[in-house]
Amino acid sequence: MDRREVVVPAGDMDRQRDYTQRLAALFQQLGHPPLAMVDTYGCQQNVADSQRIMGMLQEMGCGFTQDAGRADVIVINTCAIRENAEKKVFGVVGQLVHAKEKNPGLTICLCGCMAQQEAVAEKIKASYRHVDLVFGPQALWKFPELLYEVCSGRDRVFSIRNEHGTIAEGMPVVRESAVKAWVSIMYGCNNFCSYCIVPYVRGRERSREPERILAEIRELVESGFKEITLLGQNVNSYGKDLDCPMDFADLLREIDRIPGDYLIRFMTSHPKDAGEKLFDAMAACDHVAKQLHLPVQSGNSRVLKAMNRGYTREQYLEKVRYARSVMPELVLTSDIIIGFPGETEEEAMDTVALIQEVRYDALFTFIYSPRPGTPAAKLPDPASRAEKQVWFDRLLDAQNSISAGLHRAYVGKTVRVLVDGGSGDKTWPLSSRTAGGRLVHLKGDHGLIGSYAEARIVDSNTWALFGEAR
Ligand code: SAH
Ligand code: SF4
Ligand code: F3S
Repeated sequence: MDRREVVVPAGDMDRQRDYTQRLAALFQQLGHPPLAMVDTYGCQQNVADSQRIMGMLQEMGCGFTQDAGRADVIVINTCAIRENAEKKVFGVVGQLVHAKEKNPGLTICLCGCMAQQEAVAEKIKASYRHVDLVFGPQALWKFPELLYEVCSGRDRVFSIRNEHGTIAEGMPVVRESAVKAWVSIMYGCNNFCSYCIVPYVRGRERSREPERILAEIRELVESGFKEITLLGQNVNSYGKDLDCPMDFADLLREIDRIPGDYLIRFMTSHPKDAGEKLFDAMAACDHVAKQLHLPVQSGNSRVLKAMNRGYTREQYLEKVRYARSVMPELVLTSDIIIGFPGETEEEAMDTVALIQEVRYDALFTFIYSPRPGTPAAKLPDPASRAEKQVWFDRLLDAQNSISAGLHRAYVGKTVRVLVDGGSGDKTWPLSSRTAGGRLVHLKGDHGLIGSYAEARIVDSNTWALFGEAR
C-alpha cells in the first residue's frame, strides 16, 4: 500500500472546510440555532471518531443536545463487534422514526463500523427509510461533503465504499474532558483474528506520522491535559508502514521526552507483537503508566491457533512474566472470549486456570458472537448457549474474587490519583484513577478536579477502591 494513496491530500481537506461553511449558511436558514445529537457505541476508536464528528458539527455552527426531539441532525456512530451491539443500534434507529415524523427537517446519519458492512447498508436502505445518510469509518473525513449533499438535495446518500483506508489530518475535535484526551496513532487492523469483524470494516493498518502525533501531544500537555491515551487496534504494529524506521517502543520514548506533568496510556496491545523492547521502554519512561491491556482471548493453545492469534499460552505467559520483572507494579487487564466455535469445557477451563495464574486486575469478558463474513462464523459450533453461559459464569466468579483480593490489598495505602470528575454521589463526590488506571471513588473537594491528589485508600470492592484525598 503506497502511503501517498493513504494520506488525504490537503486540498481534499480544504474542500471539506468549504462544505462546512456552506452547511453553516444552510443551517442559518433554520430560524433557530441548529442542534446536533451524537450517539456513540463501541470502543474508544469510535469515541475518538465521535469527537471528530462533533468537531465538524461545531464548525457548522451546531450546538449539542441529548434529546432526539430537539435535534436537527442526529448521528449514530455504531459498533459491529458482537450481534448484541448491532441489535441495540437497530432498536435505537427504529425508534428515531417518531422523531422524524415530528420534525421532517431532521437529518438522520448512521456511521461507524456497522455502516461499513454492505448487508447493514442494504437493510437500512430498504427498511429504515427515515435514515438519510450512511457512511463508514473510511469516509469520516468526508462527513461535511456528504451531509451537504443530503441537506441541499434531500436525497439519501450511502457512502460505504470499502477502501484500504485513509489518514486524514487536521480534523477539528471536540474533547469532552479538559483532563483526559484520546490520540489516535494508527488506524485499521491487519491481524484477521478469525472471529473478528474489525479488519473488514476498519481497513488496513496505517500509522500517523510521528511528528503529527508528537505535535498533538505537546499541544495537549501545554493546554493542561493530564492523561493521554494513545489509540489503535494494535498499537504494537505502529510504524510498520512508515518510511522512517520507528516502532511503538521508539514512539513511546519520543513522547516521554515532552516535558510536563502527564501520563501516557495506550490501547490495545496485541500480545503477538508485544515484547521485551516495548516492556523495557514502558519501564524506562516516567510518563508512561505502568498499565497494560494485553488481551489473551483464551488460555488454550489449540483455541488460540483457531483464533489466529499468533501466540501460544506459554508464549503469552512468558511475556507477562518479563513485563512484570521490569515493572513489578504493573496493572494488567485482558479481554476473554468464551465459547469460540468448537471450544470444549476443558479448553474453556484452561482459560479460567490462566486467569488464576496471571491474576489480572480486571477483565473484559465476552461470549463468542458469530460475525457474518469471518472465518470463525463458518466453523461448527456444537456447544449450546447454556453450556457456554456456565463456563462464562465460572470465569466471572474466578475473576471477581481475584479483583476483590487485589483491591483489598490497596486498603491502608496512599496512592497518587488523577481526579477526573464529579461522581454525583454524596459520600464519594469525586471520581479518580490511580496511575495503573484503577477507579477510586474519592472524598474531597471539587476544586481537586483536573489535578493529581494523594488518596488514602479506606475501602474496596470487586470493581473499585474508595479513598480520602489528603
Ligand atoms: N484490537 C483489540 C480488540 C478489539 S475488539 C485486540 O485485538 O485486542 C475488543 C474485544 O472484543 C476483543 O479483544 C475480543 O475479546 C472481543 N471480540 C471481538 N470479536 C468478538 C466476537 N465475534 N465475539 C465475542 N467477542 C469478540
Ligand atoms: Fe480484531 Fe484481532 Fe484486529 Fe483485535 S487484533 S481488532 S481482535 S482482528
Ligand atoms: Fe466496535 Fe468498530 Fe470498535 S466494531 S469495537 S466500534 S472498531
